[in-house]
Amino acid sequence: MSSMPATVIVGGFFGDEGKGKIIAYLALKDKPSIAVRGGVGPNAGHTFTINGNRYKVRMLPSAVAYPSCRLLIGAGVLVDVDVLLEELKEFNAYSRVKVDNQTGIIEDRHRREDKSSAHSSMIGTTGSGSGPANADRANRTLRIARDIDTLEPYLDDVSYSINMAIRTGEHVLVEGTQGTFLSLYHGTYPYVTSKDVTASAICSDVGIGPKNVDDVIVVFKSYVTRVGSGHLEGELSRDEAARRGWLEIATVTGRERRAAPFNYDLAARAVMLNSATQIALTKLDILFPECKHARSYSDLSREAREFITGIEDRLNVKVTLIGTGEDTYDIIDLRDQ
Ligand code: IMP
Ligand code: MG
Repeated sequence: MSSMPATVIVGGFFGDEGKGKIIAYLALKDKPSIAVRGGVGPNAGHTFTINGNRYKVRMLPSAVAYPSCRLLIGAGVLVDVDVLLEELKEFNAYSRVKVDNQTGIIEDRHRREDKSSAHSSMIGTTGSGSGPANADRANRTLRIARDIDTLEPYLDDVSYSINMAIRTGEHVLVEGTQGTFLSLYHGTYPYVTSKDVTASAICSDVGIGPKNVDDVIVVFKSYVTRVGSGHLEGELSRDEAARRGWLEIATVTGRERRAAPFNYDLAARAVMLNSATQIALTKLDILFPECKHARSYSDLSREAREFITGIEDRLNVKVTLIGTGEDTYDIIDLRDQ
């Protein structure tokens, strides 16, 4: 197990790489005292499964899976108050969630605009109001958490709390959302989300400086998926994606995801843009069904092992976590090796 104070987890493709599952596992295994969410806002949907129960979060950190973890939301994130209150209730997380005083607030008009504008539909946004809210934020007209009475019990100086935790040697998990190529700056503009979402941006969202980060885990799925518009290199037909078992349904919008094979060039660029120190590879069992539920490297087939060493050789970063099924514990953890 890493003894480093802050670990940042980000997506290496277009979101939906399986960050939720990886984070839930890390939280249960490493027992961090604090997890903090960066990223855009409720346009993200993270899923994890424990003992056959499937959980979905859009506002809370996925570390909610570990009951003793304090859960913070950074100043750079956008909060949909209704979604947050629902999740607080679902997870009975009232006493362990804090929102930064300066977190942005999505309002009805943002959601309405995002769902109705021709531009949003051209981009294929999630309709969550995130883009219009971030536009208002850039214009400095957006309301922030300290303006909202219902958030009063949950307000905190989140960046201060995390920096204090890091200073006292506590283990902090920093959760990114979306994926590298949805970044407003480094992605496939204009078919991107409304903020940068690379590791540096996630740190900025939560208020920690680059010297306080020791590990950056970039999560890749064993194939690439994308929802919404924008180029997807090597995109398969819907039928072919279905035949391979790669046809997925988006968590937030219920849309079908487009699919393509693992893209080594994009992955190498994601490693560069995020200064990845480790790779988590998810859904290996979809490419290699014989690996389903494998929990040790030696249980993997030769083909699966070659796929992994091929990734390591081409990207020059170790694959330290390998997802082999839906359950949080369907994972091979090689961090000690
Ligand atoms: P927006 O972030 O809702 O404005 O959507 C902009 C683009 O990013 C669209 O292509 C969305 O499908 C995509 N997107 C935003 N958030 C996520 C996510 O969490 N997973 C996958 N795609 C996302
Ligand atoms: Mg998702």
